[in-house]
Amino acid sequence: MSKNFYITTPIYYPSGKPHMGHAYSSIVADIFARFKRIEGYNVYFLTGTDEHGQKIQKEAEKNKKKPKIFCDEISETFRSLTKILNLTNNDFIRTTEPRHFKSVNEIWKRLFKSGDIYLDKYTGWYSVSDEAYYDEDEIEEKNGKKVSKSSGSLVEWVEEESYFFKLSAWQDKLLEYYKKNKDFILPNARKNEVISFVEKGLKDLSISRTSFTWGIPVPDNEKHIIYVWLDALTNYLSALNFPDTNSDKYKSFWPADVHIIGKDILRFHAIYWPAFLLAANLPLPKRVFGHGWILSDKKKMSKSLGNILDPIEIIKNYGIDQLRYYLIKEVSLGNDGSISMENLKNCINNDLANNYGNLCQRVFSFIKKNCNNKIPNGNNLNENDLKLIKNVKNHIPSLIDLINKQNLNEYIKKVVTFSFEANKYFNDSEPWVFKKKNPVRMNAILFTIVEQIKNISILLYPIIPISTKKVLNTLNFSDKDILIDNIYKDNILNLDQELKNLDILFKKVEDDN
Ligand code: ME8
Ligand code: MG
Repeated sequence: MSKNFYITTPIYYPSGKPHMGHAYSSIVADIFARFKRIEGYNVYFLTGTDEHGQKIQKEAEKNKKKPKIFCDEISETFRSLTKILNLTNNDFIRTTEPRHFKSVNEIWKRLFKSGDIYLDKYTGWYSVSDEAYYDEDEIEEKNGKKVSKSSGSLVEWVEEESYFFKLSAWQDKLLEYYKKNKDFILPNARKNEVISFVEKGLKDLSISRTSFTWGIPVPDNEKHIIYVWLDALTNYLSALNFPDTNSDKYKSFWPADVHIIGKDILRFHAIYWPAFLLAANLPLPKRVFGHGWILSDKKKMSKSLGNILDPIEIIKNYGIDQLRYYLIKEVSLGNDGSISMENLKNCINNDLANNYGNLCQRVFSFIKKNCNNKIPNGNNLNENDLKLIKNVKNHIPSLIDLINKQNLNEYIKKVVTFSFEANKYFNDSEPWVFKKKNPVRMNAILFTIVEQIKNISILLYPIIPISTKKVLNTLNFSDKDILIDNIYKDNILNLDQELKNLDILFKKVEDDN
């Protein structure tokens, strides 16, 4: 089995500054990337910006800037967000880079050569904001204006010469692929949406535009600009040195293990993208996971409602681990989820400060006071102690399974339960009672609880990397030892060295904050 793992986020439009929705997809992808790394995989994690097309050209014009200059500026804010979110992306791709031009050109040529492209005329609706074509039955009239039913964005009537991709020819192959690969599209509700859409019949897809210039020209017919979605989707290959299919990167990481996306762009990733790849005779990604919407106080975030949550502002006030934890705990990946400042505060206080944080602080200060600041030996564990430790170890395969299905919600629930159980164990075992009368028993309890703290910290590491690293470093655990395998190992704790100091992990949030 290959131990390589390739995961991607959508490449975002640099049309405005990044918001919580972008942060969400990126954090989710980072959690999977980190988990697979501590599971021993060689991970390639890609994110970036999608810079061509009419939407960006218009936005640049509005700002009286050349598109490239406009993109340079805003793309940079997305790049700096990767640092603020503490992402471990290996690459940040921009579709205005030469490596991407090369790769899109090659894709076009392959589709052309296979006979999947023909020249005709497009007449129909187009949404610049979604960069999407819509059928008559996909639009409605609102306040005298034609809008897309699914996104609500304005559509305009387009009539222009256009190259088409023979999408209709791939309908059966796609359905076959969905059937054979039951987990290609997740969650299941999304898969069913896609299948019924494809079953209704696919029309050929317009894949070039002539009414603007900002994009990659069609090879040999430069008045046509390649449709921005054909351009954008190809980024996933460009980052792996495509068209050099003999490069190590391409050979190691293609096909992608999972594309993390929002449900708004499911059709592009689950229908168009695999069809392009089939036509180009390239392997298909193993999974497309379409998560739900982040809502702010139960409403979709929008400028006019004034309920846009700025990730950077929240991180400044509360911390990045806190935001990461909250988003994963409160929003069930795959469904829409409402977030609010009130819930964020409760979550920080209850889950992080009072539960995991407090457990670590209490145990470490107890050891400092009563055991010369060293982890006591675990030579005399009783059944109860062993049961606690074994319980986590026994769950590892099912936890890995949850991650492999992108079931982050169940994953975090389980890990939080371990943390509650560890707290309860510490309280019920009352190590302080045994200090004088039975130090051997006290030692066993402390060893057990530290073992639990270590294991829980490793499991929480992908979600709250900064705090768990602090805890593990306190235990003289180095960063490279943060591995799932080290949950199984019994004698990995260092009993000879003193514990390092641990600063407060999670500050409680006061009400007026
Ligand atoms: O669609 N809740 O870029 P985009 C959750 N460039 N996720 C959200 C969200 C919300 N409220 N708002 C945005 C594009 N997202 C294309 C993609 S990929 C080859 C090209 C996230 O800037 C979610 O992942 O409009 C969504 O799919 C993506 O941002 C759309 O970002
Ligand atoms: Mg969008």
